[in-house]
Amino acid sequence: MPEPILEIDALEVSYGPIRALRGCSLAVAAGETVVVVGANGAGKTTLLRAISNVLPHAAGEVRFAGQPTRGQRADQLARAGLLQVPEGRGIIARLSVAENLQLAWAMRPGNSTFAQACLPVFERFPRLQERLNQRAGSMSGGEQQMLALARAIICPPRVLLVDEPSLGLSPVMVSEVFSVLRAFRAAGVTILLVEQNVRQALGIADRAYVLRQGSIVAEGSGSSMLADPAMLRYYLGST
Ligand SMILES: Nc1ncnc2c1ncn2[C@@H]1O[C@H](COP(=O)(O)OP(=O)(O)OP(=O)(O)O)[C@@H](O)[C@H]1O
Ligand SMILES: [Mg+2]
Repeated sequence: MPEPILEIDALEVSYGPIRALRGCSLAVAAGETVVVVGANGAGKTTLLRAISNVLPHAAGEVRFAGQPTRGQRADQLARAGLLQVPEGRGIIARLSVAENLQLAWAMRPGNSTFAQACLPVFERFPRLQERLNQRAGSMSGGEQQMLALARAIICPPRVLLVDEPSLGLSPVMVSEVFSVLRAFRAAGVTILLVEQNVRQALGIADRAYVLRQGSIVAEGSGSSMLADPAMLRYYLGST
């Protein structure tokens, strides 16, 4: 593998007596799209939250661009280019759509105007342009997902961590979300995606890992995993 941009090394995370991650290790090379699949409760959200230092690590290490991330807050990591679109979207509900977009614009390097930065967003999601003054928390689930992805379009990260972006969305919106992820991939953004929509996720993955009870139990190319439904059923059937 070329130099990894993100390395997770023997990571352990516990919620009190519950050991949610047990020596979890994986690596993502720059430019790769890597998918982590796993049944409910396998530890996928915990993994992404631990990578962003939203959860403390009991043991192990995370390295971003070769540097340990220990001690850095999630917002500092986001500024450095490690951005998470969390389960539940991670937008600020009490702010308007425009204000949420402005926060992403404020983090964007360079000196484009807000209007310029928003052009590619409105092209893809015209709905957001119509709803600029609406409170983000009052938008539908699909609209909130558009807004969450719009922030990453305005300020593209080096590594995008995405937790279940298709959860609760209509089939049309799911296709739209995957099309946005493909566009990020084509633009060279490294993606670590957690999805229960296994078929579609593996379809865009260079590589995939199976997480089970907090540990990685299988790894392969997206296409080889797609070609082995029995293996996926075995690992995803139960936690
Ligand atoms: N705040 C918490 N307190 C206690 N236990 C938790 C907490 N959050 C998660 N867990 C437990 O940790 C384990 C991993 O949960 P996690 O949310 O990471 O799973 P997941 O793979 O994202 O599942 P899903 O597919 O349902 O989103 C589960 O057993 C869960 O019950
Ligand atoms: Mg989850």
